[in-house]
Amino acid sequence: MRIGILSAGGDCPGINATIRGVGKTASAYFEMEVIGIKSGFSGLLENDYIPLDYNALSGLLNLGGTVLGTSREKPFRNPDGVPNEKPHIIVENYRKLGLDCLVCIGGNGTQRTAYRLSQMGINVIGIPKTIDNDVWGTDISFGFYTAVDIATEAIDRLHSTASSHKRVMIIELMGHKAGWITLYAGMAGGADIILLPELGYDIEKVNQAILDRVKKGKPYSIVAVCEGMNVDNKLIEAGTGIETRKTTLGYVQRGGSPSAFDRNLATRLGGHATELIVARQFNRMVCLRDDRISSLSLAEVAGKIRLVTPDHDLIIQGRRMGISFGID
Ligand code: F6P
Repeated sequence: MRIGILSAGGDCPGINATIRGVGKTASAYFEMEVIGIKSGFSGLLENDYIPLDYNALSGLLNLGGTVLGTSREKPFRNPDGVPNEKPHIIVENYRKLGLDCLVCIGGNGTQRTAYRLSQMGINVIGIPKTIDNDVWGTDISFGFYTAVDIATEAIDRLHSTASSHKRVMIIELMGHKAGWITLYAGMAGGADIILLPELGYDIEKVNQAILDRVKKGKPYSIVAVCEGMNVDNKLIEAGTGIETRKTTLGYVQRGGSPSAFDRNLATRLGGHATELIVARQFNRMVCLRDDRISSLSLAEVAGKIRLVTPDHDLIIQGRRMGISFGID
């Protein structure tokens, strides 16, 4: 068999470990030929690829980013309503390359694109990748826990300035529309107020929580917020009278080496992808559910997003411990 691998969407710790997991198992164990498509779906439009032989697959386990490069190319996007030839070019090039399967490492958008390509007759396997942890159908996507570790360390370090200067320190974390990183890093870093897009927030409640802490002898607070929530430090300063600073953690959250957990998750998901290919069980996404590696149909995954729900036990336990989620 001859298979192609691509990574699409934002880079994320563990992509290289996944490429290695798929590539080494496919070539060394299942005797497949493996090629790496460069820059996501752009590489299939431009026939830009490299052979992934033994040498190309070594040294990848702990390497950040993706050696294949990535892009946010969405071949099915059609903003002007003009017929879009890109999906047809991709299918044509897949056939010209003599591929038996295309392995697509990516987030929600990538899984959707993979599904739509499968409907055009090509064989695909999806592998969920995102620090945001919002891919529907898997309990955890690789990259998430590495991002949580980085964000937790950042919150730990903000405690110094918060307590020394008696300030409110806001830290804005990534997550797109999902509050997973903010919830997990906020709780692990001991944030006092955690604001999630799924719950929304009331600035009066946030200010009240900060003032309640002052009454209890804590003249500083850490506020962890998910990107896109537009929490204004001036409104907190005006409402509480406490000096307030904001830090946006940004891309460091998805840079660098994956954690041990993410390396192993990437290896397990990558290895299972090759098992599905050999069994000709195409058009599925590999996943981790209830601590077991399995897979589900891409038709089930496509177009959905996995969000934090208010009954998450970290929210329940956090509230019982006096952490404010900005809503009551
Ligand atoms: O999906 C990962 C992510 O880092 C999100 O958390 C963030 O909203 C987005 O990508 C940023 O994307 P870009 O790389 O296009 O700036």
